[in-house]
Parts: sequence; C-alpha cells; structure tokens
Amino acid sequence: MTTVLTGITTTGTPHLGNYVGAIKPAIAKSKTADYSSYFFLADLHALIKCWEPEKIAQSTKEIAATWLALGLDTDSAMFYRQSDIPEIPELTWLLTCMCSKGLMNRSHAYKALVAENEEDGAKDPDKGITMGLFSYPVLMTADILMFNADEVPVGKDQTQHLEMARDIAARYNHHFGEHFVMPKTIVAEDQAVLPGLDGRKMSKSYNNTIPLWLPEKKLRKHIMKIKTNMLEPGEPKDTNDSFVFDIYKAFATKDQTANFKQAFADGIAWGSAKQELFELINTELAGPREKYNEFILQPALIEKELLKGAEKAREFSAPFLQKLKEAVGIRRIS
Ligand code: TRP
Repeated sequence: MTTVLTGITTTGTPHLGNYVGAIKPAIAKSKTADYSSYFFLADLHALIKCWEPEKIAQSTKEIAATWLALGLDTDSAMFYRQSDIPEIPELTWLLTCMCSKGLMNRSHAYKALVAENEEDGAKDPDKGITMGLFSYPVLMTADILMFNADEVPVGKDQTQHLEMARDIAARYNHHFGEHFVMPKTIVAEDQAVLPGLDGRKMSKSYNNTIPLWLPEKKLRKHIMKIKTNMLEPGEPKDTNDSFVFDIYKAFATKDQTANFKQAFADGIAWGSAKQELFELINTELAGPREKYNEFILQPALIEKELLKGAEKAREFSAPFLQKLKEAVGIRRIS
C-alpha cells in the first residue's frame, strides 16, 4: 500500500487549475486499490497569507464541497481539515526543534520577500514577514510526516518544501530512531499545469483563474476572455501557442484533441473554438456542479464528513504522536 497525501490551502475559490492539476487526478488515484489517500484542507496554512476570517471560512467550505461533489469516497480516503488534527501543530513543534534556521533562510518563498524588501529600500529586510510565513515549511513537513506519506503530489513551486521535509525527517530519524519514511515528491506533468486567462499558470496569486463552479453563462463569459492572437477566421492557427488549445487538451479525449487540432489547421474562428471549449468543460462539470450547489446549501453535511475524516485520521495520528513524543523524552513519570 502506498500512502499518498496532499493538501490545498483554504484561501480562495477552487478554479479549473486546481481541478485539472490536483483534485481530479487525486480522486482518480484514490479509487485504485494500491493507494491509501489522505486529502486535507490546509486551513492552518491559510493563516500565513490571509487575515480575513470570512474568506478563510468560505474557502474551506467551498474546497470541501468541491472534493465531495467530485465524488471523493470518504469511506476509503481520509478527508479532513488540518485544524481538526491537533497532533499536527504539536508535531510541528517537535520538528521545529529539529530544523536548522539556515534551512528556512534558504526558502525560495522567504528569500523572494526579503529581496522585494531590499529592492524597495526597506530598513528591515524582514519587513512584513511573520514567523508563520518563515517557518511554514515545517508545518507542511508535519502534515506529511504525521501520516508517513510515501508520495506527495504538488505543484512545481512546492518541490523545495518537500526537500526540506526529507531533511527534517532524516535529522529526526538520526537522533531518535527510524520513525519517518522519506516522502517522494510527485510533480504534476506539464500537461496538468493549466494556463490561466493570460497564459501564465492558472493561479489565485496571478488573478487569472476561471472558477470551477461558475454558473453556465458566467463560465462561458470567462472562457470568451481567454487571450488569443489576432488571426482571422479562415486563417490556420497554431496549436502550440494557444491557451484555448492547452485548456481544451486537459479536458478532452485523444480523439477530441485530434479533431480540435484539425479545426485549428482549417482556420476555426476564435469565437467558435472558445464555444467548443466551453461546451466540453460544461459537459464535464454540469453534473458535479449540481451536487456542489447542494452541498453548499447543506453545510452540516460537509461538517459531518470532515469530522468523520478527522476521527479516522486521528486513529493513526494520536498514537503515532505519542510514540514520537516518547522518543524525544516527553514521557509519563515512571
Ligand atoms: N503548501 C501547499 C501549497 O501551497 C499546500 C500544502 C500544505 C500541502 N500542506 C501540504 C501540500 C502537505 C502537500 C502536502 O500548495
């Protein structure tokens, strides 16, 4: 059995990029017999970059409803909210004490902010940087090691965090015994990295996303906004340099993709290409969208699923943390 684990930070509305790159493949994998899956809502991570309580609460609800609407089987997979597992922040402290500060100093995310401050001529290079942000890779390490995950599917931007997780795990094992397995990074294939409206990676940080659960009309409107070149109807179009094509491909079967490619060669008008893209996506999402809307209207149902998941996950994390604490010398008096 391979344990696969991944989390989504609860700071935004789920978008097509999350769906294609993370949630859809994760759910598909969770249905195969040789995987045991842990999927969670990283709400403690959300606090690092968001101090808007309503936004975090809303995002947590929406992301949870998304996994459920897309058919995650919560009996076989572990589906939980990070903050419902108190062992995670507790483990974070044990790991913080096994993590050299220099390792965190080298974090790309942290260094980028320091560089920005220096560019702005700030007196303090750490201006505006909280300890939460600085040590966030340790919290992420705890998420992963808490359940001894073998595989962690993440975006390219997260690979350094996985290296840090292995580093911290190895140091803990060296001092206190072989408790942790080394987690492998699984980076989504390029094809699974969806371009956004402007062609950069679809990401909430770039503000170029197409939300996953837009009502039909709005979805169509968003798709019509995808950037294209100025070629006229009838002029052949290059599939290698078209975001419309890239997004189409992420949803289509091989045959559909081949037909779409032909249509490009035949000079399909951008408006028609976008209409086809809309129809393809809408067909796939129409059923789940109805379920999503039902879940959103029944928050108690979502809450029940999350509490069930936390209870199951803690059957593992509670005794495991106990062992880890004993290993460092935090024990009953005897
Ligand atoms: N940091 C990840 C991101 O921003 C989210 C995350 C938190 C995560 N904990 C995790 C991903 C553990 C994988 C495993 O995308």
